[in-house]
Amino acid sequence: MTRLFPAVLLPALLLGTAALLGACDNMAKQPRDKTWTPASSTSDGRAWPPQPAPNTVAREDRPQPPPALTPALLARGKERYEIHCTPCHGYLGDGDGMIVQRGFPRPPSFHSDALRNAPTRHFYDVATNGWGAMYAYADRVAPDDRWAIAAYIRALQASQHAAAADLPDAVRGTLR
Ligand code: HEC
Repeated sequence: MTRLFPAVLLPALLLGTAALLGACDNMAKQPRDKTWTPASSTSDGRAWPPQPAPNTVAREDRPQPPPALTPALLARGKERYEIHCTPCHGYLGDGDGMIVQRGFPRPPSFHSDALRNAPTRHFYDVATNGWGAMYAYADRVAPDDRWAIAAYIRALQASQHAAAADLPDAVRGTLR
């Protein structure tokens, strides 16, 4: 063994190891933050903390106030509801959407007393944060659209639970 490792080679070996360690040492000394050190700016000058990208909502965002209730908002709500909510809640909101018929857990009907009496905010909040088996829609449906959907759900509820006295005269006359 000792003959394979002549003493003259030892200094060379040590030098090589030192050079390697030296290289590691340089890496350890490069500028960096320690774990959990709050970063104050990024090297390329972007704002810190990162700003939310357009059309995204941070989870901690405060609820947005509702936009004015207009026919245009209701029409938008109908369109968005039919895209995002009907697969489970169905076109009437009674909870028998297409994927429920294929085995997804059945959501409650929007026509229960509890949901008829719930504040409109509740529908906005459920769309924002999810509810039990239902996942959140904050990343897919913008706040104004969530309010539009909530308004449309109100219209759906009224469509299934209106007293004859609530109808305009012209419509009431057509009832049999
Ligand atoms: C993939 C299926 C699915 C989709 C799509 C869906 N939901 Fe739901 N939703 C559910 C299920 C399931 C429940 C019941 C969850 C539970 O009780 O665990 C539910 C419950 C609810 C409730 C009732 C909360 C309560 O107080 O009982 C509301 C309101 C609601 N969803 C609104 C919406 C709106 C608005 C949309 C569209 C933006 C939507 N959901 C899209 C499956 C869905």
